[in-house]
Amino acid sequence: MTEQHDETQERFPSRQRLNAENTQAQRAEGAQATDQPLSPAQAQATEPATPPRHEPEGDAELGQVIVKLDGVYKDFQQGSETIHALQPTDFQAREGEFIALIGPSGSGKSTMLTIIGGLQKPSGGTVQVGGQNLADLNESERAKVRLKTIGFVLQSSNLVPYLTVNEQLTLFDRAAKTRDTEGHTQADRDKLLASLGIEKLKDKHRSSLSGGEAQRAAIARALYGRPAVILADEPTASLDSKKAHEVAALLREQARAFNTCIIMVTHDERLINQVDTVYRMEDGVLQRS
Ligand SMILES: Nc1ncnc2c1ncn2[C@@H]1O[C@H](COP(=O)(O)OP(=O)(O)O)[C@@H](O)[C@H]1O
Ligand SMILES: [Mg+2]
Repeated sequence: MTEQHDETQERFPSRQRLNAENTQAQRAEGAQATDQPLSPAQAQATEPATPPRHEPEGDAELGQVIVKLDGVYKDFQQGSETIHALQPTDFQAREGEFIALIGPSGSGKSTMLTIIGGLQKPSGGTVQVGGQNLADLNESERAKVRLKTIGFVLQSSNLVPYLTVNEQLTLFDRAAKTRDTEGHTQADRDKLLASLGIEKLKDKHRSSLSGGEAQRAAIARALYGRPAVILADEPTASLDSKKAHEVAALLREQARAFNTCIIMVTHDERLINQVDTVYRMEDGVLQRS
């Protein structure tokens, strides 16, 4: 069975089901649509003059929950001091949802992202990705989830220095043992690179790319395996604001086109108009805003 079929069966039905549960009219209203009626107390608490709040949880376009944290926290021991990098956190993200995670340096953003990606273990709580509890998996199973389900885009692009842009992608095929029948032909690679505007860089090595080019190549690599979840840690940090916007727009398109859940850590407030949901992190405390 090809990836395409997997997607059709696993992802699209959930979206269709959700759509069926919401009327066309609700969807047309977009920002006004909420999936649950307000309780009388909530309704009273709402100022009449306050415009309706955008509630992405009720967004009919989003699919099922793909990332779920329950009471997840992380402490680091530094000498006699305990650093509460991430306070107990509940969080969920849906298929097709583009999320910004904003907060000052040292607030715990990367800690949360790397825990979601299975790169480090929480001190407590449960992390589920694609319905699997990461703690139930052994290291090689977790590595498989990282490879097949999650795409990473890191701040300083995590490209292999001595490979060309095209080889960054074929390396994935070797690691994941995907075959051409799974939509990984050279034509597919060319198409992906073209969609990111870097087809001409195909045979260039990492070292000869500019910051913006390398970031696009890193995004191409993250998208290539069609992961259900993309974790992007300050993907626009090394870019000027025009390029940063372009990269955010690309990620947004990806979320829309492939129902990918994207969690983007940034401290760039200017990017938040591109995303569906904004979370803020301060001193290890996550808040939806
Ligand atoms: N491996 C580690 N050992 C000790 N402290 C750490 C470690 N990783 C992160 N921290 C601390 O946890 C807090 C949150 O860090 P981090 O998640 O990297 O923040 P952000 O990504 O928001 O800048 C900081 O105080 C940082 O110093
Ligand atoms: Mg960080």
